Amino acid sequence: MLTLLSAMYLVVRTASAQAEPIRVLVTGAAGQIAYSLLYSIAKGDVFGKDQPIILVLLDITPMLPVLDGVVMELQDCALPLLREVIPTDKVEVGFKDLDAAILVGSMPRKEGMERKDLLKANVAIFKTQGEALEKYAKKTVKVLVVGNPANTNCLIASKSAPSIPKENFSCLTRLDHNRARSQVAMRVGVPSDSVKNVTIWGNHSSTQYPDVHHAIVTRNGKEIAAFDAVNDESWLKGDFISTVQQRGAAVIKARKLSSAMSAAKAICDHMRDIWFGTPDGEWVSMGIYSSGNSYGVPDDLMYSFPVKIKNKSWKVVDGLSINDFSRGKMDATAAELVEERDTALTFLSA
Ligand code: NAD
Ligand code: LMR
Repeated sequence: MLTLLSAMYLVVRTASAQAEPIRVLVTGAAGQIAYSLLYSIAKGDVFGKDQPIILVLLDITPMLPVLDGVVMELQDCALPLLREVIPTDKVEVGFKDLDAAILVGSMPRKEGMERKDLLKANVAIFKTQGEALEKYAKKTVKVLVVGNPANTNCLIASKSAPSIPKENFSCLTRLDHNRARSQVAMRVGVPSDSVKNVTIWGNHSSTQYPDVHHAIVTRNGKEIAAFDAVNDESWLKGDFISTVQQRGAAVIKARKLSSAMSAAKAICDHMRDIWFGTPDGEWVSMGIYSSGNSYGVPDDLMYSFPVKIKNKSWKVVDGLSINDFSRGKMDATAAELVEERDTALTFLSA
């Protein structure tokens, strides 16, 4: 019996050891988010502890010497899952045969700017990279857009890659989701994983709406509504929302650089959930294609919704009750996204 079990164990081990490597692209790979992100990806935190990886690192030509240093450090980590590292400044190399693409590379905002002030500088990058996805990547590739303004860049990338399903594109609002979760947890005095089902609606911008009307807090083994656990409606409808909306700016003011460690952690959370699904009974927030949604959000935007993920596909959590307070905030952030989309399309057609 023992021998049979050992043989079965060996078969499973051998099968997983022989898994084909997946090809994962990180753009902006010489930048600060990538520096916090690459180690987690390469050691298996995102795609699994048995999944070999080929890491493709794209940056612009002047950054290639810096990228060489990043490659050396990745090699020096001696990570068994990391089968190959490919540094490049060429899209035809960077986007070839991808299973996953994490599009970080772009300009970050400085103190005093809104993220949409980056539109002119950054949207052209995402048009080019969308076209490269269309031309070189697998049609099953999962694309996560991080570079700001993330929602609109993501929309432009997906429009530039018409043969890749819109559902394969998402943008990062998980950092906002994590911020909201953590703010509630600190207020109630519980660990962050005792708060679930917060929702970020809309744009990764200062109009986003962090909503805890359906969030649950577990305290002393009992699940209670976040509004009851916090027991301070004016905080939840006031400072809580503005703290989450303005958190990116607060980090920039303090660090003189935009968030990187927390952004990298959120990217890992987002991609891991795409790969392995969300835990039972929980949802997460991500920016996804809005057409056909049941919440009255205009079509043809990348808008952040509550989603559950299974078999690498997301589904919006439908049927949540929306009061007038929430409605107003959801509409305001949608209006900003419509304006951003129209401005981006004007830039691209100029
Ligand atoms: P960074 O300046 O440290 O790094 C950006 C890197 O991108 C640089 O190495 C740069 O050379 C590279 N780059 C520029 N154009 C490129 C191109 N066309 N192709 C490939 N690489 C290119 O910036 P960072 O702090 O890493 O932030 C990157 C982006 O992520 C910014 O737009 C920032 O605002 C955004 N961001 C988004 C979130 C979010 O939650 N969605 C969170 C944090 C930061
Ligand atoms: C963040 O939310 O920290 C990032 O989007 C960076 C920024 O510009 O705020």
